[in-house]
Amino acid sequence: MNEINGNMRTIQQISAVRAFVHAARSENKTIGFVPTMGALHEGHLSLLRRAKSECDVAILSVFVNPTQFLPNEDFEQYPRDLSHDSRLAQEIGTDALFSPSVEEMYPNGCLTTIDVPDLSNRLEGALRPGHFRGVATVCAKLFHIVQPHRAYFGQKDYQQYKIIDRMVHDLNLTLTVVSSPIIRDSDGLALSSRNVYLSQEDRRVASSLYKSLKSAEALFHEGENDAEKLEECARSLLRKESLIQVQYMELVDTETLDPIKTVESKAVLLAAIKLGSTRLIDNIILSRNVEGNHSKSNGANHN
Ligand code: PAF
Repeated sequence: MNEINGNMRTIQQISAVRAFVHAARSENKTIGFVPTMGALHEGHLSLLRRAKSECDVAILSVFVNPTQFLPNEDFEQYPRDLSHDSRLAQEIGTDALFSPSVEEMYPNGCLTTIDVPDLSNRLEGALRPGHFRGVATVCAKLFHIVQPHRAYFGQKDYQQYKIIDRMVHDLNLTLTVVSSPIIRDSDGLALSSRNVYLSQEDRRVASSLYKSLKSAEALFHEGENDAEKLEECARSLLRKESLIQVQYMELVDTETLDPIKTVESKAVLLAAIKLGSTRLIDNIILSRNVEGNHSKSNGANHN
């Protein structure tokens, strides 16, 4: 069933999104697309605002995609509140909310998948084997359904953004993948739908992740280029918190995600920690302009 919610269309069927998109495209309207798994927070809303300001039509998808969860992960518990998401999306002026069922997206399972191996097997992919196959495949499906001119992703999931961008390039899809700055709580914690899993004590400690990235950034701006020393600087701050288990803290090339030994002009420091049973990821781009002056990064995207 499809509804009109204020000026926002709420659509469950692929055929209805296609009709909506066809009508918009035949009026030469540009389409901005924000794919999400719902439980919207200010990070998602910033993407929607950007889509709205850069395109004629903004489409949001809310779909908790089962194929990107490992068997032991939180697919069942993942926070779902479509009426809350719908209200927020509508307030921002979203034109259409696409929230298909699992049966609508995968009526016969999914035999055809997309792999972007070199970018996907490391970091998050090494800890969550198969995760990025699910992400790339569902994004390719959503892009074919929604036919956007621009699709918006948060920089918090830096590896995901790079994988999707590379997939779009390799498959000659005709859209631009846009990465938008990380939105943070006042203590620096990157907003994430999974932050609701944190206990009060975990939540207090969680801000150390951003502090550790900022301490590495400060050392970099003091002139340190050695990747190991920069990583160790961030790790040593996290070691002070006994509740935190570091899963990775790695300086990598911003394009290939290959580990680097020395930061020449630009690199991204990617991190994942475990706090109780919750995993948190974050990153910061370290960049220095060609004259050798330092350009400050506030966690915003520089791509
Ligand atoms: O980042 C997410 O919320 C998901 O991985 C995405 C891109 C919506 C695909 O399911």
